[in-house]
Amino acid sequence: MRDFVLRGDSVKIGGRYSAADLVCAFRNSSKGEFSLRLSVIGCGYVGLVTGACFAEAGHEVVCTDIDSERIAKLNAGGVPIYEEHLDRILGSARKAGRISYTADAGEAIRAGDAIFICVGTPPKDSGEADLSAIDHVARQIATEARTSKLVVEKSTVPARTGLELKRALAAYSGKGSPKFRVASNPEFLREGTAVGDFFHPDRIVVGVEDSSSAAELQEIYRPILEKSFHCPVHNGACPPAHRVEFLVTTINSAELIKHASNSFLALKISYANVIADLCEKIGANVEEVTHAMGLDDRIGGQFLKAGLGYGGFCFPKDVQAFIHLSASVGVDFDMLKATERVNRQRIDRFFEKIRQALWVVKGKHVAVLGLAFKANTDDIRFAPALEVVKRLLAEGAVVHASDPEAMTRAKTLFPQVHYHEDPYTALRGADAALVCTEWDSFRKLDWDRAGELMARKLVIDGRNIYAPQTMREKGFEYYSFGRS
Ligand code: UGA
Repeated sequence: MRDFVLRGDSVKIGGRYSAADLVCAFRNSSKGEFSLRLSVIGCGYVGLVTGACFAEAGHEVVCTDIDSERIAKLNAGGVPIYEEHLDRILGSARKAGRISYTADAGEAIRAGDAIFICVGTPPKDSGEADLSAIDHVARQIATEARTSKLVVEKSTVPARTGLELKRALAAYSGKGSPKFRVASNPEFLREGTAVGDFFHPDRIVVGVEDSSSAAELQEIYRPILEKSFHCPVHNGACPPAHRVEFLVTTINSAELIKHASNSFLALKISYANVIADLCEKIGANVEEVTHAMGLDDRIGGQFLKAGLGYGGFCFPKDVQAFIHLSASVGVDFDMLKATERVNRQRIDRFFEKIRQALWVVKGKHVAVLGLAFKANTDDIRFAPALEVVKRLLAEGAVVHASDPEAMTRAKTLFPQVHYHEDPYTALRGADAALVCTEWDSFRKLDWDRAGELMARKLVIDGRNIYAPQTMREKGFEYYSFGRS
């Protein structure tokens, strides 16, 4: 039994709210605690982290996924993805009975007061986002729900998807079906730091059509807004608390905020990469330049690291989808096309360095350090490293690779690569070491030891993780980006 306490109707769309503005409370009368029942559809990176963190924050969460093997693994206590802290919070939520998994989507849909849609929206060949999974979930919700629900899209989607979702829910609902409210709640979680990002967000954006949806979402996020959770990441020593902005917008704006943010960060990276190319030609140091740029508050120092460019399942597809969306409404977003082009050319630039250093690639023993698209994840989707490995193999190199988390996934793609848990064994006899992912363990490699193992002391660093002078002092031929 739950009491719904509405304290006024002060949530306005298009405003900012602090924790003190809370207007409604759902009281779990049996425990005397605030908690909500939430359904999460899709147990990928977004869904699993979202579900686990909501459960850790005190809500009751039921997760479902179309992949029944994934559900079976979760039910057996396994975690199908690597994300720091996730296994621990899933374990404690499970022990406390606050999270459960079912392969029966109907059961999950009926369980929640609010339903978070966290399914994939992969790119089609045209760059447009494929929204068929969202359409499928809309049909399931419309046919399986027995009571009215707040349906929240968390998957990254093009603007106007929320409105289409609302239309689909209405179209798939039968006579006398319960009513659905739709909201957009984009996530800004980064893989590798997603759990910390969830508990310490800069902003929470909710796109809604009515104040009750905003109030319900504010209640869902109340533990985060009030900082009333026990932080599973920092163990009581959280970074200095800043005010979390709770932004209530229209659904279209919320959807656009997500795409606009990701595309801007991608643009920043490509900008830094062009500066790096310029530095090489002019004889400047990209790190000195971007560091000084970043000290200007208006620019900010993050996402200005030059190198192999961005990868992952978010930036590449989101930039493409944003270009596609803009074109479809007649807006020319040329600068995003340039962002994409610069990013693609990073691999060419890397290969120029490889060819210049190795001369002939065929038959060379090359050690690839890093396969994940960035550090602290096992995710290899659209990882620049994969393109590097593909080209090395095409040119006849003998590829030895090491990555702390991503090798299992890479093995299925490139069975001909020699994989090594220990990076030093990958480096034994190597003609060159190529750094493709900025793992901390690679930063800490003992290059004196590695140098004794390698056939040739050559390092081509695609992530600028070593100091050129130190590497040269150790007797290495060392190449990186923008640090001539
Ligand atoms: C990104 C956004 O940062 C998140 O806010 C967003 O929620 C997420 O996409 C998403 O849409 O789900 P993520 O893909 O996990 O998060 O990775 P980032 O940390 O943003 O890095 C993306 C890529 O850019 C990586 O390949 C990274 O190596 C590269 N990068 C990043 C650079 O090349 N230079 C930089 O300075 C920063």
